[in-house]
Amino acid sequence: MTFFLFWLGSPCPGVDTMDPQMALLYLLLLGPGLAATVPSCPQNVNISGGTFTLSHGWAPGSLLTYSCPQGSYPVPTSRLCKSSGRWQTPGSPRSTRLTKAVCRPVRCPAPVTFENGVFTPRLGSHPVGGNLSFICENGFTLRGSPVRHCRPNGMWDGETAVCDNGAGHCPNPGISVGAVRTGSRFGLGDKVSYRCSSNLVLTGSSERECLGNGVWSGTEPICRQPYSYDFPEDVAPALSISLSHVLGATNPTQKKKENLGRKIQIQRSGHLNFYLLLDASQSVSKDDFEIFKKSAFLMVDRLFSFEVNVSVAIITFASRPKTIMSILSDKSRDVTEVLYSLQNANYKDHENGTGTNIYEALNSVYIMMNNQMQRLGIVTSAWKEIRHAIIILTDGKSNMGGSPKPAIDNIKEIVDIKQNRNDYLDIYAIGVGKLDVDWKELNELGSKKDGERHAFILQDPQALHQAFEHMLDVSKFTDTICGVGNMSANASDQERTPWHVTIKPKNNEACRGALVSDQWVLTAAHCFHNAKDHSLWRVNVGDPNSQWGKEFLIEKVEISPGFDVYAKKDQGIQEFYGDDIALLKLAQKVKMSTHARPICIPCTVEANMALRRPQRSTCQDHETELLNQQSIPAHFVALNGSKLNINLKTGEERSDCIKVVSQDKKKFPNLMDVSEVVTDQFLCSGTQEDDNPCKGESGGAVFLERRFRFFQVGLVSWGLYNPCFGATNKNSRKKPPHGTPPPRDFHINLFRLQPWLRQHLEGVLNFLPL
Ligand SMILES: *[C@@H]1O[C@H](CO)[C@@H](O)[C@H](O)[C@H]1NC(C)=O
Ligand SMILES: *[C@@H]1O[C@H](CO)[C@@H](O)[C@H](O)[C@H]1NC(C)=O
Ligand SMILES: *[C@@H]1O[C@H](CO)[C@@H](O)[C@H](O)[C@H]1NC(C)=O
Ligand SMILES: *[C@@H]1O[C@H](CO)[C@@H](O)[C@H](O)[C@H]1NC(C)=O
Ligand SMILES: *[C@@H]1O[C@H](CO)[C@@H](O)[C@H](O)[C@H]1NC(C)=O
Ligand SMILES: *[C@@H]1O[C@H](CO)[C@@H](O)[C@H](O)[C@H]1NC(C)=O
Ligand SMILES: *[C@@H]1O[C@H](CO)[C@@H](O)[C@H](O)[C@H]1NC(C)=O
Repeated sequence: MTFFLFWLGSPCPGVDTMDPQMALLYLLLLGPGLAATVPSCPQNVNISGGTFTLSHGWAPGSLLTYSCPQGSYPVPTSRLCKSSGRWQTPGSPRSTRLTKAVCRPVRCPAPVTFENGVFTPRLGSHPVGGNLSFICENGFTLRGSPVRHCRPNGMWDGETAVCDNGAGHCPNPGISVGAVRTGSRFGLGDKVSYRCSSNLVLTGSSERECLGNGVWSGTEPICRQPYSYDFPEDVAPALSISLSHVLGATNPTQKKKENLGRKIQIQRSGHLNFYLLLDASQSVSKDDFEIFKKSAFLMVDRLFSFEVNVSVAIITFASRPKTIMSILSDKSRDVTEVLYSLQNANYKDHENGTGTNIYEALNSVYIMMNNQMQRLGIVTSAWKEIRHAIIILTDGKSNMGGSPKPAIDNIKEIVDIKQNRNDYLDIYAIGVGKLDVDWKELNELGSKKDGERHAFILQDPQALHQAFEHMLDVSKFTDTICGVGNMSANASDQERTPWHVTIKPKNNEACRGALVSDQWVLTAAHCFHNAKDHSLWRVNVGDPNSQWGKEFLIEKVEISPGFDVYAKKDQGIQEFYGDDIALLKLAQKVKMSTHARPICIPCTVEANMALRRPQRSTCQDHETELLNQQSIPAHFVALNGSKLNINLKTGEERSDCIKVVSQDKKKFPNLMDVSEVVTDQFLCSGTQEDDNPCKGESGGAVFLERRFRFFQVGLVSWGLYNPCFGATNKNSRKKPPHGTPPPRDFHINLFRLQPWLRQHLEGVLNFLPL
């Protein structure tokens, strides 16, 4: 069984772990009548270059927390206002004089030793941005990164450099930066152990053994600065790396790729129980608790966006746990109810018991599971098919209830975690906080389980959101669900906009389009101007196995009969794009994957579910919800696959937006009424900082995001300016020359072409009443 423990860092140490005398004083303070007589703490606690927060003003019991800009960290990290009216600073107990707080620059540790090679430069520690280079002696090959860069979180990028000659049964396990290794034999059964130099703390396995299959047990030990934290991109690979070690160690025949990275699986079958445990103890300040809540909010909202069967339990805890939402309640399956209860979770609920009892918190999860098992029946598949994910948002500073391990063991037993059921339970302990994290304590908490990295600390909810995106495993999610894209900044373009396709009509310029089902593509009519024989056309749809996608033939083409570029030539309108819409039916169904999924078309039942709207909603409701402002941020996909930004204008702003068309005397020599050209079928964008679509981007979706899902409100049709004309490559666009009318872009508004869409897609999609 593997657990991933990530710890929620709190910027305030010392309070949960204060000495007994302190605790007594503190308790006395809370007693009635005393508060009035105690003095307040002095205010000369400024930190140069940084800021601080106070949990209870200048009153005794208040916790002061310092923070510094990225690339620096505060010393000290916090102070506690004592009942005597003096500040106590953790780490300097007896000192009467207040040491001035400062922001110090973050530094990366230096290697202590490097075997069979040399490294440069040799410094005591390295500044952010500094480089470290490694070269091996003759006869040794370098594994890992030859050059590493010091990052603003005090961690080196890349991987430990190792000079190996391949002589051992196991590869040379190396010596990570800042570590010292004992043991230099790498034969079967040989052990090596590690410690960290100076004040660095070790995370990972301090002892490793060379196993039969030529792999070392456990994970690489990393020596961290006490104040270091993780970037989101560190977390994702760590999840899979840790597991590959476990799999490699225990089950050498297992195929490498399969089951790698124990993540939260999103799939249609079965049910996911998601338990959120939020630490509300004193060492976690109220502000931190609010950050936990915000992080929990993002995770819950994202999880429900997949429309899979999920139940969410919410427990806040300090000395005692409090169940805010139970898995046993039907409401735990309803995102609105869950978010509502989370909103009402209150830090104050734990004001009378502010210790940290992780054991009790996990035990309440165990009790919940037990009740559910009794209700469903132990041997039923209804119980057995439930997957469980536990997320603990905490600073990990457990000071009551003893070790959480017995509770975890109970949970493992009840969920029946064995080799072939490893996927059914995940425990994550995630740290979201600034700098002051006790890595040592965190690692000790998790260190009973060998073979993975236990502790992760992220800086803010946004970083957690990015990391969470990577914790979700959608590889088995092969539904025709609409508008699901990958939200990770690190995902590929096609993963982020999986509906996006390229259309190549023979002899015509390529266009773009969007999958609206597993067999239909929505695009622009003008792409097929004069293109007769559609047996020669090809549509490239995203394919996880190929960079260029998979090619499809076309079975049927529906071009809006109303489309006629020359319809208004008599009025001096050289080109007219009314009804610029077409549908292509692919010769085969597209297999759904992370790279190919339809986008949501408004006014359908499918989009209604994605918007989480009541069943009786109408098309008008969707328009009101999606086009709800005069300026609506939206996107289209560029030739190179990047998602570019525009603002769709409605109401008065739309009138302003379309006005400039009359300035284009070349295309519209004597235009009296702009609405002759820009009929109400068109959305307008292209003002100010908007990107402008290029010619080959016609037909592509104009879409926006709501509740982590994507909705197509328009399609790229025409514009006053082509920024790719004369551009040197796919990654550049030219600014419009001075003296020409400002650029404007017009997109077919899908709300205005409902009758035509319904005529051709009824049965493919389920439409709502208008
Ligand atoms: C601390 O800093 C604040 C704002 O920078 C300033 O207003 C205040 O006077 C300073 N206090 C002391 C004691 O230096
Ligand atoms: C480190 O290397 C990068 C490129 O690899 C370079 O841009 C940077 O200037 C180097 N930093 C130092 C301090 O030498
Ligand atoms: C994410 O992207 C960054 C650069 O933007 C890269 O350094 C990092 O390795 C990537 N992480 C993953 C998990 O792909
Ligand atoms: C999901 O839950 C609903 C309602 O409880 C149930 O009807 C449906 O069968 C479940 N689906 C799966 C695949 O378990
Ligand atoms: C804490 O104790 C006080 C005094 O007994 C009580 O009034 C208050 O309601 C308690 N708070 C909570 C959240 O239970
Ligand atoms: C997003 O993409 C990344 C990188 O391919 C992947 O690891 C992650 O599981 C994906 N997440 C979702 C929710 O699609
Ligand atoms: C793709 O092209 C756009 C301009 O068309 C540019 O802004 C963007 O940076 C490009 N993306 C990449 C990854 O080069």
